[in-house]
Amino acid sequence: MSVRILVGTTTGNTQYVAEEALFNLEQQGVKAAILQMDELDATVFEADALYLICMSTYGYGDVPANSKKLYESLVKDRPDLSAVRYGLISLGDTSHAQTYCFGGRRFDQILTKLGATRIGDVLTHDASSGVMPEEAAAAWVGPWFEQAKTLGVVSA
Ligand SMILES: Cc1cc2nc3c(=O)[nH]c(=O)nc-3n(C[C@H](O)[C@H](O)[C@H](O)COP(=O)(O)O)c2cc1C
Repeated sequence: MSVRILVGTTTGNTQYVAEEALFNLEQQGVKAAILQMDELDATVFEADALYLICMSTYGYGDVPANSKKLYESLVKDRPDLSAVRYGLISLGDTSHAQTYCFGGRRFDQILTKLGATRIGDVLTHDASSGVMPEEAAAAWVGPWFEQAKTLGVVSA
């Protein structure tokens, strides 16, 4: 099974995160691909794949502009995503205390509502932390994929 890495970004940090995740997965021999959310609608979830959602937050707790169409199509069309398994990396900044990482949280909520199952804990990244988001992603992605294997979502 391949991994589809979906990217919602405004200024590119999340793209670096996705590229780091792709590199790490490929190092483990996993087939993976990065897809930009602005080129997608809800049918992207029809593939036999494990999904890695990489999202930042913009405005006042909004999803980035390039992921609005996908997010709104999920909310409006309400497809059955009960076969979907996903992981989530959510970027934000604690200086936005009221809406910290809400972009990823919005995706997590709608995917769960539509029946999808999240694998592992959400990796949240705080832009004020001093840690590079791609470093945090590099440390997180291997154990996340191992969890998917343990749960039988992907073959060992
Ligand atoms: C105008 C603006 C609004 C933002 N609003 C939020 C927010 O509401 N909540 C949050 O946690 N982070 C917020 N952020 C922080 C970004 O999500 C964070 O810097 C992230 O690393 C950006 O990733 P990107 O370059 O992939 O878009 C905001 C950043 C900017 C520039």
